[in-house]
Amino acid sequence: MILITGGAGYIGSHTNKALHNAGYDTVVVDNLCKGYENFVKWGNFENYDFGSKTLREVFEKYDIDGVIHFAAFSSVAESVEMPQKYFKNNYKNTLNLLQIMREFGVNKFILSSTAAVYGNPDKVPITEDQDLKPINPYGHSKFITEKALEREAEKNDFNFVSLRYFNAAGADFDCEVGEFHDPETHLIPLVLDAAIGKRESISIFGDDYNTADGTCVRDYIHVNDLADAHIRAYEYLCDKNESNIFNLGNGQGYSVREVIDMCKKVTGRDFEVKIDERREGDPDILIADSAKIKEKLGWTPKYNLEQIVESAWKWHKKINVI
Ligand code: UFG
Repeated sequence: MILITGGAGYIGSHTNKALHNAGYDTVVVDNLCKGYENFVKWGNFENYDFGSKTLREVFEKYDIDGVIHFAAFSSVAESVEMPQKYFKNNYKNTLNLLQIMREFGVNKFILSSTAAVYGNPDKVPITEDQDLKPINPYGHSKFITEKALEREAEKNDFNFVSLRYFNAAGADFDCEVGEFHDPETHLIPLVLDAAIGKRESISIFGDDYNTADGTCVRDYIHVNDLADAHIRAYEYLCDKNESNIFNLGNGQGYSVREVIDMCKKVTGRDFEVKIDERREGDPDILIADSAKIKEKLGWTPKYNLEQIVESAWKWHKKINVI
């Protein structure tokens, strides 16, 4: 049985579905502070906070073989405003989970990490061995969590895989689950809100970055490609007695303007685009070099930006009746 923290959330629910389709038994642990119970359509569900001591009850009830840990706060902008909230939940509460895992002899762990651990990278595409210099508390909270995992793995019978996601986007092609944040802060769903008429315009947060068109460049990766990587990472932990850290991105960067243009193309709708102030904590360019996970786990992303936006638009139309 695989325990999925945050399995009622965006990436966790897609991974739960993929694990189910691959024949795994799962138990989702989620306190529903961000997730949705109706996103848990596969496996078992337990409403617990992963930072709570009572989480032991879940380990007593189920025979847990490994943990995939999605539950975390993940808004860069909010983390700048409320750093302690991020360090407490993303770092300190993860130590609670690790402690309980140790008590129950569960020694396989997959962490949802992030490209935000790199800060403003020295070179792009970014390889895993580059210096980690997070420029926002969210990235910093994941950076120190990775360090705690490395120390744990050095000392104990424990292995982990840390997956550094670049920009997760898109939705399940069957629309059984999808992206739904409240409040929404991510670029693609906000642009689709403009396309669908839920907002009048979309704002670009700064057009004076050191990029070709002045807007930030990101590497967008389909959520199902991320889900597939988690299964491979879990199988790797089952097969090999070692830990590892992998980037997960498409290896292609798109500027905010290019993403907006793609959304206009896919939806066939036009809307106003405004230039606004920079958002604090945003690096200029984040593009992944994912050669390591391709080589070690045989993972390759299947979906490009157009397919990402198409799947997101299909989901967006389902949840917003037009
Ligand atoms: N942006 C806008 N206007 C908006 C919303 C976003 O211009 O209304 C810009 C942002 O400034 C940024 C880009 O679009 O340059 C992407 O922003 P998102 O909020 O969609 O995503 P982030 O890059 O800030 O962060 C995401 C995840 C993080 C993760 C990071 C890693 O939310 O958890 O990708 O690359 F750390």
